[in-house]
Amino acid sequence: ENIPTVIYKDSSEASVAIAHEIASLIKDKAKKNEHAVLGLATGSTPVGVYDELVRLHKEEGLSFKNVITFNLDEYYPIQPDSLQSYVRFMHEHLFDSIDIPENQVHIPDGTIPEEDIYDYCDQYEAKIEEAGGIDIQLLGIGRTGHIGFNEPGSRPDSTTRLITLDKITRKDAASDFFGEEYVPRRAITMGVGTIMKSKKIILMAWGEGKANIIKESVEGDIKESIPATYLQEHDNTAIVLDTAASEKL
Ligand code: GLP
Repeated sequence: ENIPTVIYKDSSEASVAIAHEIASLIKDKAKKNEHAVLGLATGSTPVGVYDELVRLHKEEGLSFKNVITFNLDEYYPIQPDSLQSYVRFMHEHLFDSIDIPENQVHIPDGTIPEEDIYDYCDQYEAKIEEAGGIDIQLLGIGRTGHIGFNEPGSRPDSTTRLITLDKITRKDAASDFFGEEYVPRRAITMGVGTIMKSKKIILMAWGEGKANIIKESVEGDIKESIPATYLQEHDNTAIVLDTAASEKL
């Protein structure tokens, strides 16, 4: 079954709309004295959403005190202060500019000793459950059709785990790391199953470079080789596109 798509003129209009949806969730939950649980993504795609959330905080007083976040993924191994770390990315683009309590932020830790990763990932899953599950999960999409770092071959019921990055993904990350040989070979990612448990999923894609993988994800058969196709089985997913990314649909 095709996934519903929403197409905006450009990525800034789309990002503002998504940020406003997140803001109303946060406010609704605050009124009820509840937490809003957000699943967050990195990469260039969600930056406009974070910019608008920061603006809403600074100019309109939107508070994040009742927000709990879980990020999708992190390279492994990586130090949190290194340039390419998703911990650093999230602090620079969002967390340092809003009033979210530090202990309500969760990002997979790229410094966990290898022998502890299995337990660490189980605890990550448990924390999501304890928080009551993810209300809105934001996703970008990689050229391989990965969501988070669930590369081709990921099972639909997979949970948070250590994975090996696809060659194409490492190529795409090469410029961030100043050379493909410096891109970590592995990453920690929430599983497809973890993502699928979210109450609402918003996958964003901008630009013509994403048009082919979007067509395959939205309209193609559900298959392991394109993990984003699993989203067709989720009953509350929206794919938000700019015109260019929608052009092959
Ligand atoms: C990385 C991230 C993904 C992201 C993808 C696309 O692989 N782990 O979460 O969706 O890049 O990146 P961009 O948004 O820069 O196109």
